Amino acid sequence: MELKHFIDTQDFSKEELLDLIELIRMIKKADKQGATPQLLEDVSMAMLFEEPSTRTRISFEVGITELGGHALYLKPGEIHLGVRESLADTAKVVSRYVDVIMARTLRHETMLGLVKHATVPVINGLTDYNHPTQVVCDVLTMIEHAPTGKKLEDFKVTFVGDATNVLSSLMLICTRLGMNFTQAAPKRYQAPAHWLEWARENCKTSGGSVRVTDDPVEAVKNADFIYTDLWWWVGQEAEIPQRKAAFMPDYQVNMDLLKKAPAHCKFMHCLPASRGVEATDEVMDSPQSVIYDQAENRLHTEKGLLVWLVYPRLKRATKEQKMVHASQIQDFLESRFSEVVHRNL
Ligand code: CP
Repeated sequence: MELKHFIDTQDFSKEELLDLIELIRMIKKADKQGATPQLLEDVSMAMLFEEPSTRTRISFEVGITELGGHALYLKPGEIHLGVRESLADTAKVVSRYVDVIMARTLRHETMLGLVKHATVPVINGLTDYNHPTQVVCDVLTMIEHAPTGKKLEDFKVTFVGDATNVLSSLMLICTRLGMNFTQAAPKRYQAPAHWLEWARENCKTSGGSVRVTDDPVEAVKNADFIYTDLWWWVGQEAEIPQRKAAFMPDYQVNMDLLKKAPAHCKFMHCLPASRGVEATDEVMDSPQSVIYDQAENRLHTEKGLLVWLVYPRLKRATKEQKMVHASQIQDFLESRFSEVVHRNL
């Protein structure tokens, strides 16, 4: 069975990504009827985190539990991840214990190191470059909240804000799927040229479009979805005054900006948010906001993704094989510990 990882949506075709989203929607539908199939019974997942998390950690752990498996949460500093032993040794050893690894690493290179040496699927739960599980969930949320009858290829998505790891992933998945993507940001915080180049390459195949502007009002004019993210992250605290000065007030998603978009436009945020900074309470709690549906969809997305990657790899013993092994072990135990075995029968 080919070993498949989930590190970057760029590794998958439009058809594969749509297939994955279809599977996620089926699993979500089953969940809503309390009928989630136990497709990953006895599956173990290691969750390696170099940074804290609410949504990613909980959605993966609950997701695998609902599918019949279980997760080990290995919080920052809990295991040797490139410290005291090589990353290769950690990846090879962890792969001997579990069926799948989900990781959040500070640097994308660490993620690629895990992938290089792991012998089970690795899922990227955020790096300094991208957040692919988040944006699969975002596309699912867009499909659910788009105007009735509107084709995916006609969706207009405007990201107002910094060129974060979420921006890179969203720009790449939207253009991969043939959607129309705009980033509105001050020049200094716009997507770097190589991300734009990849997005333009995607558009050549998919028919989508990508552009970057420093005019937020023009950028939201025809938007079906306005998306924003934090203006600074851990480690960027020293830049807060200059970042605030660059983004505020024009790039804050407030009711003035939201009203410049069509009435059907929905507001999205991957969370966590700094309320009152990149978006106001009024917007985040408005009827146009879908942030909690979006957060819930992380759970359905993780379940679909886990099934997609792990289910085809599961070993399935026949009834006969199970009986042969059980009887051999039983015979051994009886020969060595007959008293105890009989007491337990
Ligand atoms: N959106 C997201 O990844 O949230 P967490 O950092 O809480 O996992």
